[in-house]
Amino acid sequence: MSAKKPRIAHAFAGITMPTSSHPAIRRVKRRDVHPSIHGNKLWKSSCLLMNYLQQHPPQHCNAVIDVGCGWGISGIWCAQNLQADVTSVDADPNVYPYLDAVAQLNGVTTTPLVSKFEQLSLSQLAKFDMLIAADICFWDELAEPVSKLVDRAVEAGVKRILIADPQRAPFFVVADHCVEAHGAELIDWQVESDTIKAQGALLLIEND
Ligand SMILES: C[S@@+](CC[C@H](N)C(=O)[O-])C[C@H]1O[C@@H](n2cnc3c(N)ncnc32)[C@H](O)[C@@H]1O
Repeated sequence: MSAKKPRIAHAFAGITMPTSSHPAIRRVKRRDVHPSIHGNKLWKSSCLLMNYLQQHPPQHCNAVIDVGCGWGISGIWCAQNLQADVTSVDADPNVYPYLDAVAQLNGVTTTPLVSKFEQLSLSQLAKFDMLIAADICFWDELAEPVSKLVDRAVEAGVKRILIADPQRAPFFVVADHCVEAHGAELIDWQVESDTIKAQGALLLIEND
């Protein structure tokens, strides 16, 4: 009996999400490119974010910044489905060869920007209508830089901020701050497709 072949991609929300078994991803791996801050796969919180945006298409989305983008799927979804100009930000330059492979599979491009959350300035953030992020609060010490990033994004006039998370503890530190300081909404969200099941929460700030 032949062994079951590993799945090479998930079709989700109209987009192709390759797994690490996909030939395009394996090609990057063979170049010895190793993301080192957990940007080593597509994380499922991005499905919460894409599904939410699919059900609630944003008004302001010409210029979108995807922070802690990893392989970049949420921003790639915005480029493909909202025709947004997307800047994909990550502290780890090694995520970008993977992001490029995922973007190419989906027929779009995004602009890469290597930066830590804490380095994104008011004037940089002011160029964007919408800030998105998925699963960027995975260590306790990330709660403060992420909270301050949100503060700067609000001050810079970013109209919509949407952060998806599998409900890790540091995310709730950020959420409590954003509810208190910016009237953020915390929304429980789950998705289930043929091959993907995810649940978590979305932090939404409307800054119109
Ligand atoms: C868990 S992954 C999520 C990746 C992607 N958003 C997704 O949903 O597939 C977290 C990402 O945040 C990036 N990251 C971690 N700390 C960061 C920081 N201080 N500034 C910018 N990016 C950071 C990591 O390199 C990694 O790509």
